[in-house]
Amino acid sequence: MKMIKNIAVIILAAGKSTRMKSDIPKVLHPICGRPMLGYVLDLIKGLKAKKVVAVLGYKHELVRKYLGRGVTTVVQKKLLGTADAVKTALSTLKGFKGTVLVLYGDTPLLQKDTLSKILKYHIENNMDATLLTAHMEKPFCYGRVLRDKYSSISGIVEEKDADDVEKEIKEINTGIICFNKDKLNDALKLVKPNNRKKEYYLTDTISILYKKGCVMDSVRLTDINEAFGVNSRLELAKANAIMQFRINDKYMKEGVSIMDPVSTFIGFGAKIGIDTVIYPFTVIESDVKIGMRCFVGPFAHLRAGTCLEDDTLAGNFIEITRSRIGSKTIAKHFSYIGDARIGKGANIGAGTVTANFDGGKKNLSVIEDKAFIGSDTVLVAPVRIGKGAKTGAGSVVTRNVPDKTIVVGIPAKPLKNKKR
Ligand code: UD1
Ligand code: MG
Repeated sequence: MKMIKNIAVIILAAGKSTRMKSDIPKVLHPICGRPMLGYVLDLIKGLKAKKVVAVLGYKHELVRKYLGRGVTTVVQKKLLGTADAVKTALSTLKGFKGTVLVLYGDTPLLQKDTLSKILKYHIENNMDATLLTAHMEKPFCYGRVLRDKYSSISGIVEEKDADDVEKEIKEINTGIICFNKDKLNDALKLVKPNNRKKEYYLTDTISILYKKGCVMDSVRLTDINEAFGVNSRLELAKANAIMQFRINDKYMKEGVSIMDPVSTFIGFGAKIGIDTVIYPFTVIESDVKIGMRCFVGPFAHLRAGTCLEDDTLAGNFIEITRSRIGSKTIAKHFSYIGDARIGKGANIGAGTVTANFDGGKKNLSVIEDKAFIGSDTVLVAPVRIGKGAKTGAGSVVTRNVPDKTIVVGIPAKPLKNKKR
């Protein structure tokens, strides 16, 4: 998009979110294993914005840490409203001329295409303000878009301040607005906290611009889920479900079979190869890598740092964390594999447990290629099971096992006659 050059983005993220009842800033609450603010940051990648300014408030140092470099931050000392927040952000955009795009940190479901659409429309038509609006049959808690007799946008009224007729309006303000910076700056000076919440509303700039005869229009959102704002735990769960659907949909399009997408929870950023099959009630966290043609679940929990190479099987009721499982290794039932390096073609019997934690630190279990771990084996880490070695059912392995050796018992000892 050539015309999109002079863009500055303001992300409003100062809110404490009283309704979440949390000590964590709202925008850091995770959706599919990742702070919701991360999805908002994804949106602006590729925009080549001149500047991205995030307005922070509650526990700003935590949010700033997450934002990292590349985002300018300002702290809104008192949360006086969205207009005040934008004003605070504009103090870092003194010399800037062009389009200011306002995004909310608590609206993580917005899609990149939608953003491109509104920016394109705003810039190509040289608008003073362009609103992203949506049609909702039963709007609740959203600002309603007011239009004059020519259907031109004339203002926004917040639900709390709306009269009964205005409450019937089905066109809502998603909160995403593009402004001409100078016009926005002028309008902000005129915003007064004359409303129920006694706040400075950004939305009041729209009626101010209308009275000045500015050119404004809207871009209509087709999928209203995109406008979904997270203000409570219930909304967090709903946003999570929508995002999970999108993530699972993406994997399926890429060639992964998910038998029951509704009961499959995959964290943002997990990598899964083609022709892998995931059975129901499985949790795969972010930072997990799964190769091609693997079988996972049902009821599997693959935690951060898990890597399954191609053609492996991690079956029912297994938990794996910080472990690498070599190709063609099979771990079919009831196992806990933590801090392990397992080679290729190994067999991990039902009920195998790596006792990785000694009360002080986590220890490594190494299982070499083609080892055979008998059912209910406990590997007391640190420990190494050699190539092609075997452990008897129920053994508790406390010492390293050389290659091709069979051990049995508690504590496990080599079988002299090599009989099982
Ligand atoms: C806002 C809009 C409403 C729109 C809705 C969409 C206003 C006045 N109203 O209402 O028209 O339909 O979003 O979700 O803008 N924030 C700050 N500083 C403040 C106040 C808020 O940074 O002083 C941030 C919040 O953290 C949040 C965003 O601004 O990310 C929106 O604020 P919120 O209080 O959630 O506004 P809504 O009541 O949802
Ligand atoms: Mg909100």
